[in-house]
Amino acid sequence: MKKLLLLLVCFAHFLISCSSPSGGSKETESLKTENISSHSHTHNYVEEAHSYAQPNAAVIKHLDLDILVDFEQKIISGQASYKIESFESNVIILDSKFLEIEKVLADGKAAKFKMGSPDKLLGQSLNIDIEKSTKEISIFYKTSAESEALQWLNPMQTADKKHPFLLTQGQAILTRTWIPIQDSPQIRITYNAKVKVPKDLMAVMSAENPKSKTSNGIYEFKMRQSISPYLIALAVGDIEYKSISPRTGVYAEKSMLEKVHFEFSDMEKMVVAAENLYGDYVWDQFDVIVLPPSFPFGGMENPRLTFATPTVIAGDKSLTSLIAHELAHSWSGNLVTNATWNDFWLNEGFTVYFEMRIMEALYGKDRADMLALIARQDLEEEIEGFKESPEDTKLKLDLNERNPDDGMTSIAYDKGYLFLRTLEETVGREKLDLFLKNYFKEHAFSTMHTERFVDYLNKNLLEKHGISFNTEEWIYQAGLPSNQAIISSDKFTLVENFIDQIVKTSKIDKSASKSWTSQEWVHFVKNLPSEIGSKQMAMIDQAFDLSNSKNSYIAMVWYEQSILKNYHGNKVDAKIEEFLIEVGRRWYVSTIFKALKKSGQRGKAIEIYKKARPNYHSVTANTIDEILNFKPKE
Ligand code: BES
Ligand code: ZN
Repeated sequence: MKKLLLLLVCFAHFLISCSSPSGGSKETESLKTENISSHSHTHNYVEEAHSYAQPNAAVIKHLDLDILVDFEQKIISGQASYKIESFESNVIILDSKFLEIEKVLADGKAAKFKMGSPDKLLGQSLNIDIEKSTKEISIFYKTSAESEALQWLNPMQTADKKHPFLLTQGQAILTRTWIPIQDSPQIRITYNAKVKVPKDLMAVMSAENPKSKTSNGIYEFKMRQSISPYLIALAVGDIEYKSISPRTGVYAEKSMLEKVHFEFSDMEKMVVAAENLYGDYVWDQFDVIVLPPSFPFGGMENPRLTFATPTVIAGDKSLTSLIAHELAHSWSGNLVTNATWNDFWLNEGFTVYFEMRIMEALYGKDRADMLALIARQDLEEEIEGFKESPEDTKLKLDLNERNPDDGMTSIAYDKGYLFLRTLEETVGREKLDLFLKNYFKEHAFSTMHTERFVDYLNKNLLEKHGISFNTEEWIYQAGLPSNQAIISSDKFTLVENFIDQIVKTSKIDKSASKSWTSQEWVHFVKNLPSEIGSKQMAMIDQAFDLSNSKNSYIAMVWYEQSILKNYHGNKVDAKIEEFLIEVGRRWYVSTIFKALKKSGQRGKAIEIYKKARPNYHSVTANTIDEILNFKPKE
């Protein structure tokens, strides 16, 4: 009987592997799901809208990268060699975009290759002829000026102003613009790299890193744990390292290093808190590099080396939840990875939940709940903004033929968070924590998609304890279900009372805000009601000088309000322009540009944008182009 069952399973397995890749009916889809595992002998990768690769036929397993970084020509050139696993296929398909492929070898011999026609979003397929026995392919290539992952900065765009800088951003589908690769998050590879850079610069990657410069500009890297291609990252600049603990530390330009080291000095404590929650940190080292201000994100969880914006260096450690967030990705995202970009909420929602738990462990429930309430408000604004397209408020997305970047909204983050927080409230913290710990352990170094998660949740938490929960509604329906965890903060209630006072009396009692944290300031500014006009804005600015806030987050929300409330005092307009030109963090600058557009100042926005755009990374520029409907030749 057992044998018969086994035979049946094998037969089913056979059918799935051979079924046509595009014929993804619902049944085969869920069968395939059952079969994804970390065992390499199964090869049931799901169909994926954002990669040309056909990993069920032939898949990359390990990358050896050997490249030269040429700052003069702004080009990376060299060789990407892959150990591959092929299932009797005579072709292996990779993704490439804006790359010049010079030649390809298969097991050391020249191989025929063909490029597919270019697609604006996905780039081109790179189809390489192989033999059934082929074990290794080598691709000789060059990047071009259009490479969207790469940002080449001139010395004036750095903190120290002396040397150029290069940074890469791979997520979501940009790694293919600097390395030919199977660029799907369900692929996992290990890698080694040899990178040659100008002698006065240092190179670091999402791998085992140097702690000081070499004399010849050659750096060798090893990433022994398997990661998804979007997590391959490189930064090159005049940077130095300072350790915080044996396994944590920071990289930054010299003039920033001490400030950064102080700001992030709780990093080891964060790793300990995270491990206590959901299991061992398996990546050995947790370092952060603080990049120049044009880095397009707050942070990016590149394994072993988080990339971070300098806008979180506030001087008082008040914005370090960003580090907790990127650290949390070491479990949710890097260890258990979203299988497709439609499952992005599995990366980000879990990470926000984990981030809040780390913050609570280190700084207490008050601080964590303020952060959670800010997220709650962002979520409501996002849902309001999606009035015309409620589909976009589902956790599980359908990004077919769309840029996966479109999924980077507060839905994945904050609705995902609220789902888990509500689940916590329903089942109790103890049960949820045990469940999550096992979830990470059982799926380590593998990929996950939504349907499979729902199955796992039902079996291992809900059915196990006989608890009913509207999981499907949370995940597959638009908007917010009515069972939502109630989040409250006495501190924020005081802030709201303070605002009421100002509205009623047109007077400000400065003593009330004396010991506010930056979260309270952000809450204050974000919730100034419409009754507050430019006159009261002037009064508030006179009391608190918010136009000159050194805290980037407070400044950003204040600029937004100034624009919306038509306030122009205290040279705030000049400040806004300066900020938009210097900072390239997409969330910040898009918030401000949206406010300018909303208040009927598109003309002024374009004028500033023309000066700012050359400073922006492609992902920021693309977003702002869209917001302002700006044609680069305008
Ligand atoms: N992984 C994301 C950044 C990302 C998402 C890049 C999608 C490209 C596509 C990162 O972990 C992140 O969420 N960063 C946030 C900060 C965080 C504290 C919410 C950011 O950059 O704003
Ligand atoms: Zn994240």
